[in-house]
Amino acid sequence: MIVTIDGPAGAGKSSIARSAATRLGFAFLDTGAMYRCVTYAALSGDCSFDDAEALLRVARSCQIRLDGARVLLNGEDVSEAIRTPEVTRHIRYAADHPGVRAHLNVQQREAARGKNIVTEGRDQGSEVFPDAQCKIFLTASPEVRAQRRQQQLAAAGKVLSVEEILADQNRRDLEDRLREVGRLRPAADAVVLNTDGMQPEEVLEAVLQIVRRVQDAEPA
Ligand code: C5P
Repeated sequence: MIVTIDGPAGAGKSSIARSAATRLGFAFLDTGAMYRCVTYAALSGDCSFDDAEALLRVARSCQIRLDGARVLLNGEDVSEAIRTPEVTRHIRYAADHPGVRAHLNVQQREAARGKNIVTEGRDQGSEVFPDAQCKIFLTASPEVRAQRRQQQLAAAGKVLSVEEILADQNRRDLEDRLREVGRLRPAADAVVLNTDGMQPEEVLEAVLQIVRRVQDAEPA
């Protein structure tokens, strides 16, 4: 069974999708980490982001392994290195690149082959797994997402204003929504879950309920 969880930045997808996978006993795929790996590799190798062919070569040279919470790129643990603001700022070059997207889509389908999996990103239900049995689009208002992000960062010792976070988030939302290939949108058959006013445990329970409803309806 494939469960896709898509949605905008800061909707809490990663932690909810990961917890849902654990509770269901499913594998978990963080596709954002793959775009981050390509971007990190391009930055490390001095690849010009304007050179589309070079960027595709970099993507093809990336051996990405997602091992629990760890992200390994060509054997190196880059779990933290791929989450810097510098990587986030440059990610649109890989995410806007149709060739890079096609390459990563193949890897994502490969990772899901023969497994029960929860896969999380922007285009999982709409593009990568159009036949997934259960599609969820997790969202929340921009202000709520920015406030949640601020609390997360504060817990990690980083103090940023909600305004700063909101400005950056609005930019990423726009990039994700306007992208020509693989843009952020709910699949026509996705369940849209707006999490404004919900606690993380409530969101997790709501997600699990959606999955179980589908499991109960599937022939054994
Ligand atoms: O989920 P995360 O914030 O780590 O993703 C990083 C970036 O990768 C997103 O802002 C988005 O632009 C891009 N992405 C994408 N398609 C996916 C997953 C992520 O374009 N399936």
